[in-house]
Amino acid sequence: MSWADEVAKRLPSMIALRRDFHRHPELSFQEKRTSEIIAERLTKAGLEVRTGIAKTGVVGVLRGDKPGKTIAWRADIDALPLTELLQAPFTSGTPGVMHACGHDGHTAIAITAAEILAARRAELPGTVVFIFQPAEELLSGAKPMIEAGVLDSPRVDEIYGLHLTTQDPAGKVNVRPGPTMASGDGFSIDVVGQGGHGAYPHLSIDPMTAAAHILIGMQSLVTKEVAAKETVVLTVGQLLAGTKNNIIPDKAVMRGTLRTFDMNVREQMLGRLQSFISDMARAYRAEASMEMTMGCPPVVNPERETGLVHRCAAEELGESAVFQGNPVMASDDMGLFLRERPGCYFRVGISPTHDRKVPHHAPEFEMNEDGLPVGLRVALSVLTSRLRA
Ligand code: NI
Repeated sequence: MSWADEVAKRLPSMIALRRDFHRHPELSFQEKRTSEIIAERLTKAGLEVRTGIAKTGVVGVLRGDKPGKTIAWRADIDALPLTELLQAPFTSGTPGVMHACGHDGHTAIAITAAEILAARRAELPGTVVFIFQPAEELLSGAKPMIEAGVLDSPRVDEIYGLHLTTQDPAGKVNVRPGPTMASGDGFSIDVVGQGGHGAYPHLSIDPMTAAAHILIGMQSLVTKEVAAKETVVLTVGQLLAGTKNNIIPDKAVMRGTLRTFDMNVREQMLGRLQSFISDMARAYRAEASMEMTMGCPPVVNPERETGLVHRCAAEELGESAVFQGNPVMASDDMGLFLRERPGCYFRVGISPTHDRKVPHHAPEFEMNEDGLPVGLRVALSVLTSRLRA
């Protein structure tokens, strides 16, 4: 059975919903209006709704009238601190906040899927748990939702979700087994010396020189201590120190991100960074300490469930619409859910048809809405086939 007709009927409502979220974006853990709308729609559709989970998260439980498994669908709901440059009737009405990653689309797809399945509750086997997670952009929303028990009551057997992407053509579904998105750790390093006059560096301890050597030296950890076949990205994006050309400051701060696909490599790097930075600082008589600011594991899709998603997508859309793309260095805290339960996180193309390819997290980000019904059809196909399994 194809979901094409049912989805076509709901399409205007789903597009309107996505545009409404786009017009009213909210930052991580501040998704107040967004959660209210989610809760309102799910309640109206007859789901059991829980709100205020991990501050602004929402869970909707849909119990079918027939016995079956319990399958979760996860959507992230937050926007980014950017001022939108795209001109559209639904352009963000909030300066400095913008849906530039497609989470407005994820939210609209999940709500519409819930509404469609709720209308068929009588023939629905099992239970669907719709998880609307806040603060994915901080990689901070999944953990408190899991701790709040969203996978436990009712006990979820498997979890699925999708991310829209401008890297793939609209209508294409990118399903990849194994590591598919990188781990994402943020770190902040304080290098502390002793300030003084730029004319007399020998009377000071210069934290900037120590920081510079730490920064360069950290890259050698990647090339000299990690096996060549592994993937590691270590980027310092902020280097903050000093006030004036002839004053040696007493402190330098470096902030950066570490990404990889393998948990062992991640642990190895995090462990080595700690000792490397303090040893390196000591060589310059400074002291350094590192603090982790956020973190999540890689998204690793198990073979079996990923194969099932591939089959569902191919049955629904035709085999030519489904392909296996490359892993990406971006991170997503869906990885935490997939450490708790089997499932799959796949991608659905929303690339605009014109030549201006704009990446996610850019103020010109643009979604080709033709990808939305495709995502919804695959979501429905995956959910119903897994419930029955
Ligand atoms: Ni995203």
